[in-house]
This record gives sequence, C-alpha cells and structure tokens, in this order.
Amino acid sequence: MSNSQGAKTWVEVSSAALQNNVRLLKKRIGKKVALMAVVKANAYGHGLTGTAAIALLSGATWLGVDSVDEALQVAPVAKKTPTLILGYTPLARVKDVVRIGARMIVYNQETIRAIAATKKAARIHIKLETGTTRQGVGERELLSLIRTIRRYPKITIEGLSTHYANIEDTTDHAYAAGQLAAFIRLAAVAEKAYGKEIPVKHTACSAAAILFPETHFSVARTGIALYGMWPSHETYISAKERGAALPLQPALTWKTIIAQVKEVSKGTPVSYGLTARLTRNARIAVIPVGYFDGVDRKYSSVGTVLVRGRRAPILGRICMNMCMVDVTDVPGVRLEDEVVLIGKQKSELITPDEFATKIGSFNYETVTRINPLIPRRYV
Ligand SMILES: Cc1ncc(COP(=O)(O)O)c(C=O)c1O
Repeated sequence: MSNSQGAKTWVEVSSAALQNNVRLLKKRIGKKVALMAVVKANAYGHGLTGTAAIALLSGATWLGVDSVDEALQVAPVAKKTPTLILGYTPLARVKDVVRIGARMIVYNQETIRAIAATKKAARIHIKLETGTTRQGVGERELLSLIRTIRRYPKITIEGLSTHYANIEDTTDHAYAAGQLAAFIRLAAVAEKAYGKEIPVKHTACSAAAILFPETHFSVARTGIALYGMWPSHETYISAKERGAALPLQPALTWKTIIAQVKEVSKGTPVSYGLTARLTRNARIAVIPVGYFDGVDRKYSSVGTVLVRGRRAPILGRICMNMCMVDVTDVPGVRLEDEVVLIGKQKSELITPDEFATKIGSFNYETVTRINPLIPRRYV
C-alpha cells in the first residue's frame, strides 16, 4: 500500500490475517466455547475499534478490554456484544460501566457497593486468585464478597474467571494445572455460596486455548494469537509436540518513510551523545520515528529496518521523533521511500519477536507500545 494519505508513519493491519486467526482459534475451541477477542491495549497496537469490528465479523462473540475508557470507545462497534473490562475500574467510573452495560471483573467489596449505589442492574465477573498473585480473591474473601452481592438483587454474578501465571514461559505446565484445579474448586465454592449456577466461566488465554481444551469452559480470552503471534517460543514448541501448531498469520506491518538522505564521510559522529561514528564513507537516511512512536531507545545502534527489501542498521541513538539508518549498502535510496520497522518488505521480514529480542523485551510489549496516535490502516 502506498502512502498516498501523507502520514509519516502508519500501521497496516491485514484484515485477512485477523480473519484467518479468528477462524483457526474458533476451530480449536469448538462450537460450544465462545471466543473473546482481547482487544485491550489498543488491540495490542492493532487499533481498538477497527480490530474489534473485524474480529466480530469473523466470529468472535465477546470483547475483552482493559478499562472503562476502552469499553466506551469500543461500544459503538460492540453494539450488543458483551464486553468485559479485564483491568481495574476506579470506583468513580463504576457508574459509566453500568450505564453502558459492560461487564466488570470484580474482586473488591467497594466495587460492589459502588455498583449497588447506581441502583441499576449489572452483570459482574468475579476474579478468582489461583496463584498468579495479581487480581482476584481467595476462598475467604470470595465467600464474604458473595454474601455482600446477595444483598443486592440487581447485581448478577454472570462469570467466574482466573488467569494463568506460568503457561507461556515454560513447556512444563504443572503450575498451570494446579491453577486450573484451584479454579474448579473455587468455582464450586462460589456456586454453592451463590445458590445457583454461574454460567460464564473462563480461564484460557491464547496459550491455554491452543494447548489445553480443559481450560476452555464457556469462553476463551484470546489476545496475542488473534494477532498472529505466538505467546512464546515455549508455547510454539508445546503446540508442535502435540501436533497443535496453528498456522497463525501476523497481521501487523509498521511503516515509515525516508525523510532525508545524505552522504557522510568516515569518522563523522551520528546522533545525540555522538553515539555512533562512521567507520567508512556512508549514505545515511533519516527516518521520522523515535521513542515517542514506540521505537525503544534501547534500539539505538542495535535495531534494523527494511529499505528497498534490504536490511539497514540503525545508527546511533534513537531520538524522540527520529532516528538514523545506514543505507550505504542499499542502492537507489530516495526521499520518501517506504521503510518497514516491523513486518515484511519484499523477501525480508522483521518479526515483532526479532524487534523485541534485540532489546530484551517480548512481542507483546513491542506491539502494544506502538503509539496509539499513529494511524492504523486496515488492508
Ligand atoms: C486477564 C487476561 N486475559 C486474557 C489475556 C490474553 O492473553 P494472550 O494475549 O496471551 O492471549 C490477557 C493478556 O494479558 C489478560 O490479562
């Protein structure tokens, strides 16, 4: 796609890749399990509303967001699709969630009282603490939370959930199995205390959804795989060993253009702090993206971009809105040539994993850090 719209940097998202990944995940979880498209963090950098729309058209029937603000943003696209806020809702914003009918993950008495104060009907999902030591309640707090909820007939416990701490980082899934057992036990405790079935149970992130059918319950909350990335190399290996490696297609390409080309002689320093020095006469291209855009400063002098289908190294320190690239070995480079930071150009490819690994990070962080102000184009 050419840059006829005049952006200096933009993200292209392949609708076909997203559709492919939704279909693969739906097939993996089967007809009885609903697919929640986890579109939090600006849909992992892919653009919240555009991605949500494509995921819903492709067969996802739940949306997972981080915050009340994301829930409000996605509401016109979600329409009647149930939307679950996975992160924390400040007490002052509880009324907004109730007003739009989104679901909240709940684990505090204070949140229940804030919902009750709205005097409106609300459906909530309780988070069970099974060993991640993040959000959630253990047995004692669970019982006391349910006692409080039962005092307010307008509040319905629609769901129970948990999240795995050690399912991506390893090929040994014993800890996750322990969390699953704890979830099953706590869910039974919750239903007994509530006096009825709590219909929507969910534990599975992408790794669990791909590897372990016993984690699926009613809804699988998939993020990273939806975007065509593997949660980790370990998950990929585990899937391969089980003959369960899905042909996921990466959906995101991050592009920019060349803002200047200059000939620079051997020995010249490049960028702030004189952080690189040319070891030969060189041709340098300035590209108009920097750490504000999501190119981590650790990428200074270690990163690579694609120009005219070739790899070109980043030289010197990443600036706020610019960085410099050595294009000496790329013939014919011109002003406004397209540059790929993540994705494919001709036969070369820079994956989010490659980008991340060079700076001691991982694919989730790299894509979610692409500045949300950068335009997303669905192709
Ligand atoms: C509570 C919760 N559920 C589901 C997900 C989706 O995980 P993944 O992207 O690994 O599928 C996340 C992601 O961080 C999460 O925090």
